[in-house]
Amino acid sequence: MTYFDQVKEAADFLRGKLGELTPHVGIVLGSGLGTPAEAVTEAVTVPYGEIPHFPQSTVEGHSGRLVAGRFGGAQVVILQGRVHFYEGYAPAQVTFPMRVLGALGVRAVILTNAAGGIDEGYRVGQFVVLADHINMMGWNPLDGPNEPRFSFLPGAGLRFTDMSEAYSKRLREMAQRAAVDEGITLEEGVYLAVTGPSFETPAEIRAYRTLGATLVGMSTVPETIVARHMGLEVLGISCVTNLAAGLSPMRLSHQDVYEAGRLVERRLRSLLERLAVWIATLVEAEL
Ligand code: HPA
Repeated sequence: MTYFDQVKEAADFLRGKLGELTPHVGIVLGSGLGTPAEAVTEAVTVPYGEIPHFPQSTVEGHSGRLVAGRFGGAQVVILQGRVHFYEGYAPAQVTFPMRVLGALGVRAVILTNAAGGIDEGYRVGQFVVLADHINMMGWNPLDGPNEPRFSFLPGAGLRFTDMSEAYSKRLREMAQRAAVDEGITLEEGVYLAVTGPSFETPAEIRAYRTLGATLVGMSTVPETIVARHMGLEVLGISCVTNLAAGLSPMRLSHQDVYEAGRLVERRLRSLLERLAVWIATLVEAEL
């Protein structure tokens, strides 16, 4: 069975579970940021283990289930927890869930993550909208033969995917308006992706700052790349869970990253609810 057929099988399985629901907005909740999914009403919850070919999350703080339903009024499909390359998964497995969202008919995704803050002005607990990214993972999820059947939207599924607006300008502007309504400040930043699982050294963080990064993390970028390959619009939101290595006297630990995420989940939830409604309205008007 080809990879594409596995994605299709997973999507067909989920379509059977979703019934009347036809979500066009997908949301991925990162480390310690999972509870917004609990606000979904008329929820259809499917553990990853039940979905054909779906990879299982092995990290604490990543629950590993798909939740579809109504969120702030909009139809959404939420991935509560993701898998990472450092867990031993191949790039195609890491991005399998994003492929399934594309096959389900999702048009726009909001990708959230926990990140280390490289910008000296960042504070723990603040949100940063991704303006762009730098892929330092050393691989690209589109490596290997191109699969043109992943062209769920016109002009997509190409061998060479344009990344000049990886993170949608209009969704970023929308995020800024939503933040004003929520009374929170949203910086814009550049997310640099590493594979982990070790945190960075202070020298690496100095190097990444020189490269133009303001955030560092171990996810999101592969998902953004395959989403763009399929023609989906992407909004990225990082939660600064810690200052990057060398910027504070603290040692870095997953526990602290996780707990910092937990503290901001409520604010994240209201921001996401507002955005889900606006984005659903936008993309559904264009169907
Ligand atoms: N580095 C890499 N990934 C991360 C960090 C960090 O400091 N914080 C949360 N995810």
